[in-house]
Amino acid sequence: LAVRVGLVGAGFMAKAHTLAYRAAPLFWPDEVPALELVRVVDVDRVQAERAADRLGWREATTDLAAVAQADDVDLVDVVTPNDAHEEAAVAAAAHGKALVCEKPLAHDLPSARRIAAAVDAAGILAAVSFVYRQWPAVQLARRLLDEGAVGRPRRFGAHFLHDYAADEALPLTWRFQRERAGAGSVGDLGSHLIDLAHHLVGPIVAVHALTATYVPERPGATAAPERLPVNVDDAADVLLRFACGATGHLRTGWAARGHRTQWGFDVLGDEGALRFSWERPALLELHRARDGRGGFEAIAVGPEHIGDEALWPVAGQGSGWGDAFVLTIARLLRRLNGVDVEVPSVTDGLRANEVLAAVLASAEAGAWVPVTTGPPLR
Ligand SMILES: NC(=O)c1ccc[n+]([C@@H]2O[C@H](COP(=O)([O-])OP(=O)(O)OC[C@H]3O[C@@H](n4cnc5c(N)ncnc54)[C@H](O)[C@@H]3O)[C@@H](O)[C@H]2O)c1
Repeated sequence: LAVRVGLVGAGFMAKAHTLAYRAAPLFWPDEVPALELVRVVDVDRVQAERAADRLGWREATTDLAAVAQADDVDLVDVVTPNDAHEEAAVAAAAHGKALVCEKPLAHDLPSARRIAAAVDAAGILAAVSFVYRQWPAVQLARRLLDEGAVGRPRRFGAHFLHDYAADEALPLTWRFQRERAGAGSVGDLGSHLIDLAHHLVGPIVAVHALTATYVPERPGATAAPERLPVNVDDAADVLLRFACGATGHLRTGWAARGHRTQWGFDVLGDEGALRFSWERPALLELHRARDGRGGFEAIAVGPEHIGDEALWPVAGQGSGWGDAFVLTIARLLRRLNGVDVEVPSVTDGLRANEVLAAVLASAEAGAWVPVTTGPPLR
């Protein structure tokens, strides 16, 4: 039986997610169910129609109910600005649809809690699009950490830097508005890093954050001459304390000159270390003190490391950003089909929003702030 998909939001991510729906059945023909790309909804009709036409969705609409409540939709995929995730996700959950929601789960913690509660009450399968933790080298890092390859983690560091917003002429979009995005670079990019930190080292229990806004006003999207206020961060530095006793830091920024897209992490343990850079996405670097050699060994990730997660049977051909979405959506689709694979859950999304809320409170107070964690969901 085909899984019938409805898409909420027809912008940038609509393309990445559509790519994933098209590619997933090619890579996992026995595990990914047949798919029908039924309907795309956007508040902007032109945008919805253009997306349907170009990306190959059967219909376009401006009526959310025609996706979130429709009898001919089984899976709802939410790729709107952050403040609009809740309306679509809660409606989809209430109507028993499976759900994919982009990250961060919501623009603020109360909204994330409401989404998580709705998903929990409905008992549906739901995933949050933390695509980087799905990455083969990151999965390998997780496996090595579980096996104790670096001993006990002492320090975690991660960064996610872009340069596109260094351009002061870049128009103001929802990403620069706290009411819609919730936070700036620390929410947009930092939510991925928080998820990586949780995935690799465990829960973050306290944070101390410093944020900066370099471009306080930006032109509007129209030709009008006025400049509009930016009320989110362009950059953030965050110190972390983990439940396991490790410490760490995050560095985010989208106005970081020289950094097109650069993210990576390292984990320093008492018996070794490992590190990863997105600029060399097929390599994971490992140091084991017991080997008696200084420095790092570069492990080229291949099918022998990652089992069924490989897109191609030939190691080292290289994969890219779009593939991260293929891996994530394919895992959800395989789970829907009863295959036992892990997907980043709404609880993972909620945990990241809890840390983000502490980060914003800390940046405002200039002090350490504990992370308030709700009870685990079902
Ligand atoms: N996982 C990742 O790596 C990744 C990368 C980029 C963006 N994102 C996330 O994806 C989401 C969308 O980002 P984007 O870059 O595609 O944004 P975008 O601005 O390109 O597109 C958003 C679309 O949603 C539409 N929209 C706005 N409000 C709506 C509503 N209430 N109902 C229906 N449609 C609505 C807009 O008209 C627009 O077409 C955000 O949550 C963002 O954080 C995730």
